[in-house]
Amino acid sequence: MQDPLHTVTLNFSDGVSRSFSVGAESSILDAALQAEIPLLYQCRSGSCSSCIAQLAEGEAHTRAGASSTLLANEYAAGQRLLCLCQARSDCTFDLDYGSEVGSRVVSEVHAFVDKVERIASNVVRLTLELADGDWLEFRPGQFVQVQVPGFGVLRSYSPASTVASLPKLQLLVRLLPGGAMSGFLQEKAQVEDVLTLSGPFGAFFLREEHKRAPHIFVAGGTGLAPILSMIDSLRQGSGRKPPMLLSFGCATPDALFCLDDIELRRQWLPTLETRICVDREATGELHQGSPVSALREGDVRGPDTVAYLCGPQPMIDAASARLIELGVAPANIFSEQFVASH
Ligand code: FES
Repeated sequence: MQDPLHTVTLNFSDGVSRSFSVGAESSILDAALQAEIPLLYQCRSGSCSSCIAQLAEGEAHTRAGASSTLLANEYAAGQRLLCLCQARSDCTFDLDYGSEVGSRVVSEVHAFVDKVERIASNVVRLTLELADGDWLEFRPGQFVQVQVPGFGVLRSYSPASTVASLPKLQLLVRLLPGGAMSGFLQEKAQVEDVLTLSGPFGAFFLREEHKRAPHIFVAGGTGLAPILSMIDSLRQGSGRKPPMLLSFGCATPDALFCLDDIELRRQWLPTLETRICVDREATGELHQGSPVSALREGDVRGPDTVAYLCGPQPMIDAASARLIELGVAPANIFSEQFVASH
């Protein structure tokens, strides 16, 4: 029997719409890429969430037997991962990024290890320098993949720096017992070692269209990396800076890191307010509790407030719920789950 064709329409946030045909058995992502439509994606297997879209009209289901990272309530609310999704009728999806975003070409580059610094009980700052002639464009918040030498595995990290600091690139690596990158950094890495990187990937990035709106950033652990990149990008941009609030937390004071970098940015940016949180053992000006518990009435400065959250999934869920309660529009909340991989 012939595979029936449906028409899928994708609405990008900049008002551009693109339509294409898809057979019932192919994934909407595959069909869109075949039609040369610039979508964000990475794993093509339901685990990275880069290809998320909101079903606005019609019927489209996750392929039978596929496992996705979407929660049941997200699926019920119409969210779909396009790499696993098949059309059951003509349908329309809304995307929360513009039509030019996915057209960025993924490149593979080489970078030299410049510095390996232990900056907290379980965090290393890895400074890399791109090899001569190599270049890696990325939006603040997006991630790159690094091939871990000698382990044959890839690990994903969001740069804590921006393209303005290239050819230098800073990554924050959480050390995990038995972790491939942790093992490499702690036992083998030498200055001048060469790493292979590819990118950019991911749909978590600073939205240009909201750059004048008040910003709230909530970061847990090394989820701080993409947030620092976003704050720096706002700092480096021209014009008046928006009000910004950063709430950053770790478990204990000895797990905190980059406090000097945060303080420096607070001094450079009079519109930036910061709250540093620890779950326990708070001393001095540290807030005791999660970075979500540090959010209060009055933090949402206007109906156009935009929020970026990066950290473990429970923190993201709690932060989203709290920010919505405080008056942030759900469509203005962008998040990325920080997943530790061994
Ligand atoms: S591309 Fe990774 S979840 Fe779809």
